[in-house]
Amino acid sequence: MRIIPKPVSTTLNSGIFNLDGSTQIVESYKNEKLSYVVAEINRITKLIIGSELKSIYSQKSTPESNTINLMNDSSLAEEQYTMDIQPTHIDIWSSSPSGAFYAIQSLQQMIPIETLTIDNRSSVEFPCYHISDKPHFTYRGMMIDVCRYFFSVEDIKEVLDMLAMHKLNRMHWHLTEDQGWRIEIKKYPRLTEIGSIRKETKIGSHKDLTVGYDGIPHGGFYTQAQIREIVAYAATKFITIIPEIELPGHAVAALASYPHLGCDGKQHEVKTTWGVDERVFCAGKESTYQFWEDVLSEVIELFPSEYIHIGGDECPKQSWKECSDCQTKIKTEGLADEDELQSYVTNRVEQFLLARGKKIIGWEEILRGSKISPSATVMSWRDVDCGIEAARMGNDTIMSPATHCYLDYYKTDAIETEPLAIGGFLPLDEVYSFDPYGGVSKDDRKYIIGIQGNVWTEYISTLTHLQYMALPRLSAIAEIGWSYEEVKDYDNFLERALNLTKFYDYYGFNYGTHPFEK
Ligand code: ACM
Ligand code: ZN
Repeated sequence: MRIIPKPVSTTLNSGIFNLDGSTQIVESYKNEKLSYVVAEINRITKLIIGSELKSIYSQKSTPESNTINLMNDSSLAEEQYTMDIQPTHIDIWSSSPSGAFYAIQSLQQMIPIETLTIDNRSSVEFPCYHISDKPHFTYRGMMIDVCRYFFSVEDIKEVLDMLAMHKLNRMHWHLTEDQGWRIEIKKYPRLTEIGSIRKETKIGSHKDLTVGYDGIPHGGFYTQAQIREIVAYAATKFITIIPEIELPGHAVAALASYPHLGCDGKQHEVKTTWGVDERVFCAGKESTYQFWEDVLSEVIELFPSEYIHIGGDECPKQSWKECSDCQTKIKTEGLADEDELQSYVTNRVEQFLLARGKKIIGWEEILRGSKISPSATVMSWRDVDCGIEAARMGNDTIMSPATHCYLDYYKTDAIETEPLAIGGFLPLDEVYSFDPYGGVSKDDRKYIIGIQGNVWTEYISTLTHLQYMALPRLSAIAEIGWSYEEVKDYDNFLERALNLTKFYDYYGFNYGTHPFEK
């Protein structure tokens, strides 16, 4: 059985099921999201056998021959499924359509590889198996940075396809940065008129001062209509999109658009090189809080996600130290220092969002300063230490440490043969070795809600390159997130990963082949 992520249990039955153009899909319960499952089956059959299947609604208790039956079993958990492949029919049980969707992802990976290479095939044979399966973690995600380089609507849809194939259910969308503001905000049109375009980009490594700039403007943003389109597309793949609006750091594109949002009020340009910038939002002026609230008011209308990511990482405090407004705020609010001022910002923005039914996620720096609110979720990113600390304090935590989950890092140490990357060295086996519970006490495990792979794009300007970096490492993230309880055997995983690459080939997803080279 070659499925990634590895199912909880699989038993071989005898015989084969032959799927062809006359196979019918039977919906045995009503749920509007079942149409997404039917569409997913038909997307696959259209590709593999050149035709879509007829779907009918029927509650007959004995299945008709040559059917795929989507059945309801309310005793199963959300996302859980049971699939029984018999020579005459396939039964899929789940308590919600998401479970059935994941059964179809498993079924897809059971298509014999040879089938993918035969033209004009009109049927596919599936080995008969009984599969019981459910995810370990509720949050299984990937972050994509569309600010350092912009990725089109079509690119993002393909990323969502990639995530769905791996049974990942969250796309964390990093939408605002020093180098570009990528989301249309109606109340602040300059954010995209000015903030979405940088006049040029540093060539080569940001540390290499011997090479200059490319002289080519780079820009792009998503209109609110496009955002709605992408969110709706993600929903058909059972993926929730979590937008990230960075504050109070990583703000240069916003300051270039509206200089009054900075401490010095001076005009800045959208940043053209990489690295942490001292120019951050002014946390002293009330007008900044008004700006954040206005922006977030539009954001929450666009994203049904219960979470909004508010960034919080890498906010240098020098400008706050020199700003009379920030210093006045520290005094009037009785704060100890600039770190507490950032906590004040986090708490105030969180209260605004909580009042509107949304929870925050922040990068690990939201732990600094005064005590973090219990309802904030922490994303551990440098390593796992802040995640362990957050869980100890009873805060929900997502593990995405650079040590194991930064998919923009080099995947091999032969870096002279690789496209330029931000650094690091994170081969597939290292990703696979990650334990999101490592160092977390048994009692605190319940606060670790999941795992995420991050793709920062300082050195990644095309989807093909992004896929090369993300795949197949994302399959290791997916397996840790879904199959945590399963025995980890890297050689076995590698065989299954090789099988998965045949599907990458089929879908035109680029990937790195290093792990398979002997
Ligand atoms: C980060 O990598 N700055 C979250
Ligand atoms: Zn200030």
